Amino acid sequence: MDCRLLTRDDLDALFEFELTNRAWFEAHIEPRPDDFYTRKGVAGHIEDYLQAWEQGRQLPLLLWGDEASGFANQIVVGRANLRGICHESGEAWIGYRVAQDYCGRGLATGAVKHLMDEAYGRLGLRRLLAAVSVANPSSSRVLEKCGFRQAGLIPEAATLKNRTLDCFEYQHYRDWRTSQRPLA
Ligand SMILES: CC(C)(COP(=O)(O)OP(=O)(O)OC[C@H]1O[C@@H](n2cnc3c(N)ncnc32)[C@H](O)[C@@H]1OP(=O)(O)O)[C@@H](O)C(=O)NCCC(=O)NCCS
Repeated sequence: MDCRLLTRDDLDALFEFELTNRAWFEAHIEPRPDDFYTRKGVAGHIEDYLQAWEQGRQLPLLLWGDEASGFANQIVVGRANLRGICHESGEAWIGYRVAQDYCGRGLATGAVKHLMDEAYGRLGLRRLLAAVSVANPSSSRVLEKCGFRQAGLIPEAATLKNRTLDCFEYQHYRDWRTSQRPLA
């Protein structure tokens, strides 16, 4: 799996990924608006994300299959993003999604570790945050494998199939990586 910055050339591959996995994503996370699921909608989404990246507010990555890892070449198998990057507070929010056919192979865990390296290395951030619905244990597991800890419950933070769900807030501090203190 190869993590690369989103580009305008990725339109067709990203559209295919989002359309193929729409029902899978909508079973776990808040749905995107219907008009997202057109070439124009995805093109506009790419422009928004690249603008946010140029302004230093986001880091949008695509996860590409590669033959070396036993995946088909040149297809998008997942996404991983830093959002709400704030250099003053040294924080950002982390998000990810993986194609249904490629789940359970460590892709999300690898992508989160890659984002942590970027956030704490090149971007110089100090803390990462994530929100995961209480009905998404595999996503919680991904964060816990990467050393994130639950920091609280955000009531009714997500709407899924017309049902409001509480979310766990997770956090991870850069200093936890270098601290001699074992994780609780
Ligand atoms: C959540 C998601 C990103 C996980 O991606 P993935 O590539 O399968 O994740 P990984 O393979 O790196 O790790 C998944 C872990 O969850 C575990 N898991 C799977 N189902 C589980 C369940 N019902 N309960 C607890 N753990 C579970 C797996 O066993 C694995 O842990 P392990 O390595 O200790 O065995 C993927 O399922 C997805 O994209 N879902 C839809 C979108 C989404 O929910 N995004 C996250 C929003 S917060």
